[in-house]
Amino acid sequence: MTTFKSILWENDKLQLLDQRKLPLETRYLQFTDYRDVAQAIRDMVTRGAPAIGAAAAYGLALAARNSTATTAAALRAELETAAAVLRASRPTAVNLFWAIDRVLARAADPALDTPAAIAAAVLAEAHAIAAEDIQTNKAIGYNALPLIPDGAKIIHHCNTGSLATVDYGTALGIIRIAHEEGKQVFAYLDETRPRLQGSRLSAYELRHYGIPHTVIVDGASGHVMRTVGIDLCVVGCDRVAANGDTANKIGTFNLALAAHAHGVPFYVAAPTSTIDMTLATGDEIPIEERPAREMTHFGECAILPDDTPVTNFAFDVTPARYITAIITEKGIAYPPFEESLAKLMEAD
Ligand code: MRU
Repeated sequence: MTTFKSILWENDKLQLLDQRKLPLETRYLQFTDYRDVAQAIRDMVTRGAPAIGAAAAYGLALAARNSTATTAAALRAELETAAAVLRASRPTAVNLFWAIDRVLARAADPALDTPAAIAAAVLAEAHAIAAEDIQTNKAIGYNALPLIPDGAKIIHHCNTGSLATVDYGTALGIIRIAHEEGKQVFAYLDETRPRLQGSRLSAYELRHYGIPHTVIVDGASGHVMRTVGIDLCVVGCDRVAANGDTANKIGTFNLALAAHAHGVPFYVAAPTSTIDMTLATGDEIPIEERPAREMTHFGECAILPDDTPVTNFAFDVTPARYITAIITEKGIAYPPFEESLAKLMEAD
């Protein structure tokens, strides 16, 4: 079965497509407890900035649903506890914190004066976050259309498609919409060590959509730009600072440097929920380091000498000067990003 529905809410339970198993196995895991949702985000059952935001919102809905609190105040206190557990799951993608804050703000509405009313509002807000994500991603894709020449050869990093979001995707959504709109596009997919989101997940999606592509190892991008010729790179993001510095999957910065060296436009696809105007620069973005085993093993098989020290940075920060434009659902921001992002964030 081919499915890209990363997140489902059915019969008052959350179901997450286990992305660790794709593309070999399609299985959903069922969640009734927010603590297990937090663990699933940490373990990358679900991943991608918008998807983990939506999953956390549903985690709060589960916390509200399971609560035995008899007053609105007691339930709000329990939701704060659940929020702290969910916030601690992964540090870099700001969508996680954005979605949690949004649900808590809804729960804080003084008009909600019973636990049942709060629980209903929390679930409604989680549904709204999920539904809006799809519209946001489509808008990003359509806003990007003028930037994608017919016949474009495009490098993409990690997985930013339906699997990384509620549906459609951001950077991969741009490629998909260009294809749906009749443009001939060809994608070079970075395989994205160590978890292979490019080869396992992006290739799985593009194959299904019938979009021509090939997978390259992460270190091949400079060679491909020099020998094949690339028209643009498009990547997603986990957090964009107010000056445009962008945190994304490890290897993105190297790709941007290669693009800069070859004069290739480098685009970031960013829902405004990924833009963190509270951080002046990318130096303030927390960068997740993940377990060594992701690098030392391939499945069950050790691929490094015993006890070799490794450092598993999950993200890097691409300085704004290497970014041609940031494509959001509200429009396209060009440098200087301090001004263009501030304007976009104020727009309705
Ligand atoms: O570690 P992951 O797989 O969660 O990292 C995902 C990325 O870096 C994506 O590029 C980003 O979250 C944007 S997804 C639309």
